[in-house]
Amino acid sequence: MNNRKIIAGNWKMNLDYNESKELIQNIASSEDDFNSDAEVVVFPSMPFLSVFHELLKDNNVRLGAQNCYVKNSGAFTGETSPTQLKSLGVSYCLVGHSERRDYFTEDYELLAKKIKALLEVNITPVFCCGEKLQVRESNVYKEFVMRQIEESLFSLSPQDLSKVVIAYEPVWAIGTGKTATAEQAQEIHHLIRNRIAKDFGEKTANSMSILYGGSMKPDNARELLAQKDIDGGLIGGASLDADMFAQISTSYSE
Ligand code: 13P
Repeated sequence: MNNRKIIAGNWKMNLDYNESKELIQNIASSEDDFNSDAEVVVFPSMPFLSVFHELLKDNNVRLGAQNCYVKNSGAFTGETSPTQLKSLGVSYCLVGHSERRDYFTEDYELLAKKIKALLEVNITPVFCCGEKLQVRESNVYKEFVMRQIEESLFSLSPQDLSKVVIAYEPVWAIGTGKTATAEQAQEIHHLIRNRIAKDFGEKTANSMSILYGGSMKPDNARELLAQKDIDGGLIGGASLDADMFAQISTSYSE
């Protein structure tokens, strides 16, 4: 179970360069406050990755990117390729965050391509899924999340799938202060793992990290992280504060 613990901070489009640098320095210098059994990953804005890679050089904190394109080079103005990210020391990349699905109309097929492109250069994709409030209330949320998983991940080989991290982020819990209850989150995490086990085998399913995201804070992290199928967190707002981020990382039960 230990190898599955990941605490990740998605900074989104927050903080300017100086503010971001201060935060990353705070996180790096308080390494002892973080859970040494968990992989700690930060996802700052793209332009800062290169400098932050240097700052984290002697540290166990890993660097992630919030987005990438599907091609490795070419005439794609404004995009960043997996190869370019790799050359900056990036270890993880978010794929399919609900904000990208919503505002940038990213669909199943594009997300599947991004995942393959990242795996080719050995960057771990963190595949985000989750339903909106309307879907939750219409009671087809389980089918909805399973479809997101099947459409973007199920064409991978078992070896490749086992390298992917999944983050279940119910959209109604993102940035709203309204966290899913531990039971609501565990229900979906368990379904995801079972669904993967059905097609790819128990070994693959059990080796994968499934993170919860959506208003995770120090005061609710312990209950969420105590659930059998919740291996870690993808944290937005609370990851902008080094102390809160560290506290969440130490909220695993013994
Ligand atoms: P909040 O923790 O701010 O709800 O954001 C969650 C999220 O979207 C992480 O990717």
